[in-house]
This record gives sequence, C-alpha cells and structure tokens, in this order.
Amino acid sequence: MNQQKPSPTIDTVSAFNPEFRNHPDQILDQIRSAHPVLHDESVDAIILTRAKDVAQVLNDRNIDCDPRKSSPGSRLRQVHRVDENFRPSLLRMDDPDHKRVRDLVSKAFNQASVDALRPKVEQIASDLLDSLQGRSSFDLIETFAEPFPMAVIAELLQVDTDKREDFLQWSKAMNQLFNPRPTPEQLASLKWGSASFHAYLKQIVDQRREHRGADLISSLITAHEGENTLTEWEIISTCELLLFAGNVTTTDLIGNGMFALLQHPEQMEKLRVNPALLPGAIEEMLRYDSPVTHVARVARDSPGIDGCPFHAGQTIYSLVNGANHDPALHLDAHAFDIERENKRHYSFGGGAHFCLGAPLARAEAQIAFSLLLKRFPSISLKPGAEPVRKITPSFRGLESLWLTVPSTE
Ligand code: HEM
Repeated sequence: MNQQKPSPTIDTVSAFNPEFRNHPDQILDQIRSAHPVLHDESVDAIILTRAKDVAQVLNDRNIDCDPRKSSPGSRLRQVHRVDENFRPSLLRMDDPDHKRVRDLVSKAFNQASVDALRPKVEQIASDLLDSLQGRSSFDLIETFAEPFPMAVIAELLQVDTDKREDFLQWSKAMNQLFNPRPTPEQLASLKWGSASFHAYLKQIVDQRREHRGADLISSLITAHEGENTLTEWEIISTCELLLFAGNVTTTDLIGNGMFALLQHPEQMEKLRVNPALLPGAIEEMLRYDSPVTHVARVARDSPGIDGCPFHAGQTIYSLVNGANHDPALHLDAHAFDIERENKRHYSFGGGAHFCLGAPLARAEAQIAFSLLLKRFPSISLKPGAEPVRKITPSFRGLESLWLTVPSTE
C-alpha cells in the first residue's frame, strides 16, 4: 500500500521535537526542497525555509508583527497570551508606533553606547574568567555564558549590585516566555519573573526621573524627537525586552559558538593562530547555529510566494536556520567555515525589526571568545559529559557545556 508521509507542521520544527532539536539541518533540508512554502492549516501558518523568501517577508512593510492581528486560533496569539490587556513591546509593534519607539530607543542605545560600555564589558568577562582559574573542568554555560550577558545588561541599566542575583532569577523564570503550552509551574514562574521585574523597573524609572544618570534608563527617559517621548510603559517594556532578548540569545551564541569550535578543531586552531579572524568567526557562529530559531510575522491579503497567496491574519514563520543553511545562499551550507566569504545570515532578523542589540551582541561575543581562547590554550569537551540542548521555544542553545582544562593551564 502506498503510505503517504504526513506533511510537516509547526510542531515538526518546534523545540519540543527532539529530532528537530538535535538534527535540525536534515529536517530543514527536507522541508526546503519538498515544501518551500509550507502551509500548516491547523494554526493558519506559513512556514518558510528559503533565504530569498525570508528576505522578502522581513523586508515587506505590508507585513505586520502585532499578534492581535493574527487569526483567532493562531499559535502566535497563544505564545503571546493575547487577551484584552495585551500590549505589544517594541518587538511586536507595528508602524507608526514601532517607528516612533524604535527611533527614540535608538537614540539612547546605539553603537556609541556600546563603544562606551566596552571597557566595562571586558572587565566583567575577565572577572568571571578569573573565578575559573585553577579549575580542571567547568560548565561554560553556568559559569560564564549565562552570568556574562546578564551582568552586561545590569551594567547598561545601572542596576544595584545587590539586585543582580534577583535579575538572573527573574530572567531565568522568563525563559519560557515564548512557550505556547507552559506547564502550570512554568506559567507561575513566568508570571512571577515578569511581575517582579516589572515592579522593580517601575521603581527605578521613578527614581531616575528624579535623579538622572549616565545609564540607559535615564537616556530612555530623556530621549525625545520633537514633542515625542517614550511613555512609562514603553520604557519599562523596552527594558524588559532588552533583558530578555539580549540575554538568553547572547548566552546561546557563546554556548553554540564554543560547541561549534570544539567540534571543528581545525577551525579553532585557525582562530588561535590568527585572532584577526574573530569578527568573521562570530558571524559564522551566528549563521551556523542561530540562537533564534524563527521570526514570526502576520500577513495581510497579498499574492504571497510561488502562487501561494497570503491572507490577512495568517502567521508567517521564517525559519532562521533554514534560511542560513539554504544551498542557494551558501556553498557547502552545513559546513562550519570561519573564513567563509559570504557572511550573510538572518540570525539578527532583518528589515524594520532588525536586532537593535546586534552591535552589543557582536562586541560581547568578540570579547568573550578572545579572552576564552587566550586564557585556555587547549580546552576540550569533558569526556562523558555530552552537551544537552535546552527546550526553550523560539531559542536554540545548550543546557550545559562541560569543558576540561589540562592541568598545566
Ligand atoms: C530583535 C536576535 C542580542 C535587543 C531581534 C530579532 C532577532 C534578534 C532575530 C528580530 C526579531 C523579529 O524580527 O521578530 C538576537 C540575537 C542576539 C541578540 C541572535 C545575540 C546573539 C540582543 C541584545 C539586545 C537585543 C544584546 C539588547 C541588549 C533586541 C531588540 C529587538 C531585537 C530591542 C527588537 C527590535 C525591533 O523590534 O525593532 N534580536 N538578538 N538583542 N533585539 Fe536582538
């Protein structure tokens, strides 16, 4: 009997599918060649894996972000827990609000603020690595990749030192933010993390209104364009977004990037011999194993792609690793090659919502890898401690990455 294989769905490419979590390339290749414009009717979604289609969708100003515009049964509404109280952060705003808020946030948070922060970022990374001195093995995620970006964001916002442990706990609790089906415990923890963080930020915003400093929150309060300023909600939700979007992603970039180097020792050696390759190596880490798995948009009625029309309310998922590994974009797309000439990737998204933190993420990753490679000239994976992938919807990273350091280091 001719048994037809069922079409892949949104669940095929979910963090909850262990096969996808562990071997995404194989599944993405199959979807890209057999179903380049895949329709999952159960959640009214289109799933894209070709680089050219992802570029088209991200750059189309007639495609929206706000989940309230998506169809009633959409996964996007579920993920964002859309109810009558839902208000989008910058990430999910559409114009004119998106342009107004993004322009104001960009005034406060830009390349110049990252450059000014750089010495402090170096200090934070260096202090964390000092604390590993003399250890024969350690979990890179727990000891460095997690606390490092968290401390950087805390520095950016000038959060009190005694609040930093709370910060880490709130942020971890919010890890399940994009989980469409959290367990009751996860939901409770998510609500606790978000409410605690929100209350704390509200208090700091009030204080900084009275006593402005050289921190990002004060800059967000001060930022104005003619009559335009940010509302209290916009300031708080932007800080919350920075904390969340800038944290787990940078942790995952460091973990995934180190794992890729360890699996490709010849690439690690090239980088050790020639540190000038580092900026290109970071772009390849981002391309090869993107910390963000997909970006979601909401369609309006349009001719769509390849004769497959989009209709209003449909969710369009652009699978980042699908586009990054598209053979039409990259030769030998599944190879990890830090000297790859074409550095194009979609790991920071694209178009109007292109990652605002990309300069900071790049600076953090460059500082982290430069110090890690210098401090540990012959690091390796700890035998018997297989790295485990996290189950975090929308993100792709490692739960732990145990490394061994030879006793002479
Ligand atoms: C947006 C990835 C680090 C702040 C985005 C988007 C992606 C992304 C894919 C676009 C989402 C969409 O279009 O729906 C990453 C990755 C990072 C990283 C892979 C690290 C490796 C950071 C950092 C910050 C940050 C460090 C700030 C501290 C933001 C903000 C947006 C954003 C504010 C929203 C921009 C908008 O909607 O206009 N990021 N990000 N990100 N990211 Fe990042």
